[in-house]
Amino acid sequence: MNDQALGMIKILHVAGTRPNFIKIAPLMAAFRAYSDVAQCLVHTGQHYDEKLSKVFFEDLEIAHPDVNLGVGSATHAVQTARIMMAFEPVCVDFKPDVVTVVGDVNSTIACALVAVKLGIRVAHVEAGLRSFDWTMPEEVNRVLTDRLSEFLFTTEESANENLRREGVPPERIHFVGNVMVDTLLRHREQARTLHLSKRLGLVPRGYALVTLHRPGNVDTAESLGPILEGLDRVADEMPVLFPAHPRTRRSIEQLGLGDRLGKTRLMEPLSYLEFIALMDDAAVVLTDSGGIQEETTVLGVPCLTLRPNTERPVTIEQGTNQLVGAHPEAIVQAAIRVSVERRDGGGATPALPALWDGNSANRVARIVVEGL
Ligand code: UD1
Repeated sequence: MNDQALGMIKILHVAGTRPNFIKIAPLMAAFRAYSDVAQCLVHTGQHYDEKLSKVFFEDLEIAHPDVNLGVGSATHAVQTARIMMAFEPVCVDFKPDVVTVVGDVNSTIACALVAVKLGIRVAHVEAGLRSFDWTMPEEVNRVLTDRLSEFLFTTEESANENLRREGVPPERIHFVGNVMVDTLLRHREQARTLHLSKRLGLVPRGYALVTLHRPGNVDTAESLGPILEGLDRVADEMPVLFPAHPRTRRSIEQLGLGDRLGKTRLMEPLSYLEFIALMDDAAVVLTDSGGIQEETTVLGVPCLTLRPNTERPVTIEQGTNQLVGAHPEAIVQAAIRVSVERRDGGGATPALPALWDGNSANRVARIVVEGL
């Protein structure tokens, strides 16, 4: 962000949370190919723990943020409002032609709203996904961000359909594929060189990997307790590794659920490369994350989504994903079934969804630069 930016196309990227960093990395690399583009990276500070933020910048070789808004954790209203207040002067100062926002987190909606009110065009990467579950904060963020955006970049056909149904003019919808997959394909081999499962004494395709952080799953004992029981029963069959999000770890402690973990191995959050390495070798991944449903599809690893719905139906139709909800019996039965299939080399052969080919960020950059 300097005087040399004058007279160039100016693009301001926003990233605030762990999945945002994975998406922003290939986007910034793609825009670097244009000598007339000046880029600025704003980190909102929504995720601030070293293990959720700094290690991702290192693993993915993302440039140091030009600005860190340092907003931290708070209620939804306070966090969103803090981001907006801190982001507005950055926009006024940098005067971007476009603000790029990714995903569906509070940083996404907050910065899109600030930009559009300043008359700055918004590009939303990962537009159009819908769970149709209005109790999820991310669904509110998705719908509102799409309404504010001029460039809507989509990952799958369901997103195109959702946007058309909502009346978005077709010329705003750009089906480009999945930038998270760009990052995965770029780093998969490097992750394999870690030989992490071996170093942890695990048998390849002989263990389960778990992530959980959705408020609907982890914030109450009524929801989290039965899931932990299900995981502990899976741990009777195979090692269960659980690198826990800070929100989830805090819930386990505050709700007094530590004893329900049983044999499940609770771990600190992993770096990007470590997590990809463990996912690649797992018998089964159990998660409530959106991005992991997509990554397991590409890796061909069975994924059990511990939610009643998904905004990413292509991962079920063409990938390895299944919705199992949060009931212990359903979790155990599905985990055993898919891990046995995987060990025996059976199960459905996944097909890669259209345009999940490692070139999605290049498409985004070309469309934005040509569209200005
Ligand atoms: C956010 C996103 C979610 C995304 C997830 C990825 C929203 C509404 N939610 O959820 O869509 O899938 O990121 O991880 O934006 N905390 C820390 N250290 C941190 C960050 C958070 O300890 O660096 C703890 C805090 O106690 C905080 C809690 O986690 O209160 C929740 O953080 P928050 O940013 O509100 O949402 P996430 O659950 O991370």
